[in-house]
Amino acid sequence: MSEDIYAPATEVQNIAHVKSMEQYEEMYKESVNDPEIFWTKISKDFYFQKQPTGKFLNYNFDVSDGNKVFVEWMKGAVTNVCYNVLDRHVENGKKDNVCFYWEGNDPDDSKVITYGELYKQVCKFANVLKDLGIKKGDHVAIYMPMIVELVVAMLACARIGAVHSIVFGGFSSDSLAERILDGKCCLLITADGVYRGTKLVNLKDIADGALKICKEKKFEVKKTIVVCHLGPMSPPSDKKVSSPAAKRPCMSLVTNFVEGSDLWYHDVMSNASEECKPEWLDAEDPLFMLYTSGSTGKPKGVVHTQAGYMMYAATTFKYVFDYHDGDVYWCTADIGWITGHSYITYGPMANGATSVLFEGVPTYPGPERCWQVVEKYKVSKFYTAPTLIRTLMKYGDEPIKKYDRSSLKVLGSVGEPINPEAWRFYYNNIGEKKCSIVDTFWQTETGGHTMTPLPGCTPTKPGAATFPFFGIVPVLLDENGKVIEGVGEGYLVFKQPWPGIMRTIYGNHPRYEETYFTQFPGYYKTGDGAKRDKDGYIWITGRIDDMVNVSGHLLSTAAVESALVEHAKVAEAAVVSLPHKIKGETCYCFVTLIDGNTFDSELITELKHCVRTKIGPFAQPEVIQNAPGLPKTRSGKIMRRILRKIAVNNREFGDVSTMADSSVIDVLFANRPTSTS
Ligand code: WTA
Repeated sequence: MSEDIYAPATEVQNIAHVKSMEQYEEMYKESVNDPEIFWTKISKDFYFQKQPTGKFLNYNFDVSDGNKVFVEWMKGAVTNVCYNVLDRHVENGKKDNVCFYWEGNDPDDSKVITYGELYKQVCKFANVLKDLGIKKGDHVAIYMPMIVELVVAMLACARIGAVHSIVFGGFSSDSLAERILDGKCCLLITADGVYRGTKLVNLKDIADGALKICKEKKFEVKKTIVVCHLGPMSPPSDKKVSSPAAKRPCMSLVTNFVEGSDLWYHDVMSNASEECKPEWLDAEDPLFMLYTSGSTGKPKGVVHTQAGYMMYAATTFKYVFDYHDGDVYWCTADIGWITGHSYITYGPMANGATSVLFEGVPTYPGPERCWQVVEKYKVSKFYTAPTLIRTLMKYGDEPIKKYDRSSLKVLGSVGEPINPEAWRFYYNNIGEKKCSIVDTFWQTETGGHTMTPLPGCTPTKPGAATFPFFGIVPVLLDENGKVIEGVGEGYLVFKQPWPGIMRTIYGNHPRYEETYFTQFPGYYKTGDGAKRDKDGYIWITGRIDDMVNVSGHLLSTAAVESALVEHAKVAEAAVVSLPHKIKGETCYCFVTLIDGNTFDSELITELKHCVRTKIGPFAQPEVIQNAPGLPKTRSGKIMRRILRKIAVNNREFGDVSTMADSSVIDVLFANRPTSTS
């Protein structure tokens, strides 16, 4: 392991909110020793109509005493997140500040939206929702591309106290239906479609498919609001007309618009009033739910609440990107994932930041797109995933050097462990050794960054998530729950709550307790492994449960397995993660066929298709191998540890004495597809 240490960029350090490790340590100590004092001070930056009635922080992390796990920050306080991220700025003279530079899939398609303009649109849409009978506590599903109307929709929900459940636009009808059903959503907001690069995705069709499934399960979503985004179909390279009026009618793409239940966004918005008072909510009322993969295969509706989430997203944004007025920030994630929730909408907007909202694919029309956008808007803070960095590495320096990147100051990474080689490329080639790199470890469940450098003070090591953010107490535990001090490797857990921690799994609090708090009572279990080096740096080693991280998107192996076994010829399937050069990890699937069927390339294509339609295109497995038998214990449990070795062609299994029939191993090796060895 290399031990090079990189000092923070001087230009960043000079003006940073935290300029030295001493200052970080002092603030950190207060945040964990006196969290109430620390976060009370921060809460003063936000608008609360009423202060908490009881304790500022109240919680129980310990199930061993038979009590329920709960976390409450500022219970009894009254606020509204939409008010805090919009009205506050409009009232404070930031009305004309740019909130988003929207950059379309095509480089010549863009628009600018100010805080004042966004405020108006959000108020109007909040009124639309109210007119449809949506009220505090109702659940609204959002299935949209990366367009301004997506932000409008989520903030309009927040304004009236409705709970948004955003589903990433790459999920299939089945996945969308599963989330609508589990989340009991009463309204769906979508768009006609979107181009991702040259690929057209007909979102309305997929949404219709989902609603049909819901109906079959006796659950009816009464209304669907459809944004006319593409309008008459045009190939992506044609210059699009940006005036909404010119885009109508949208019928050329949306062929199954059902009058009555389907409503055009532009129609319902046309007469809506621009005034809408926010609904005042308890600090602990839910703000949104967002589904994340669960190791049983059924996704978990992670619930975040108002005040704690808002303060945590805002504070991590401020410190981790060292945000200052005048910065232009760009996060390439999709709002359909937590990174987009916290670091495109809520965190940046709570700080009154100016961001790029990017619809497209970072490598379309070419591998220089990112840097063209950086030059165009003079982006100073840039946040992306290791998988993109590895993709860009393939193209070398030329596309990077084509554009002026001198505005860049902080470069962030998220979604999966960043390999040192990609880290160095980010630092040397993209940042030209003048930027601070922040490798931010966190999860849907944590609401915001948990382990991360601060760009003005932390000396970084390529691949290390370094130290905890304010309020986070990381602990490494061994299998038996014993604390590992000093150098070592184990389960990464957090000892006490921070404001952004999830409060429950929607509709299933026991699963929340079981997943995160039962194995190690008194701690929140991340599900990731980590090691601590001699300097106390934390390095995330990856998931230690049955989860595969494909390009920063977590997938449960169980979900992929259940998609595979739905195929009529498949008897059984076992899926493990396989290291992948660009995606980080990908799925390696072993399938056992029902007797009498043949394993051939046609079947492989069909099986890949099964996963695409059941889960979504991004989940498509890399390898599908014929497995006439699977390695199992005598009690019938599949031994994934063995399968993981077979996937990488490694015969060092260790102990196989618990295996029922070890002869399957040779057969599995013989059946490995040659291209993966
Ligand atoms: C992984 C994404 C190493 C990790 C924000 C975690 C990371 C899961 C990093 C959460 C990082 C995310 N270094 N691993 N910087 N960031 N992960 O819920 O396995 O989509 O548990 O949230 O991604 O994925 P999620």
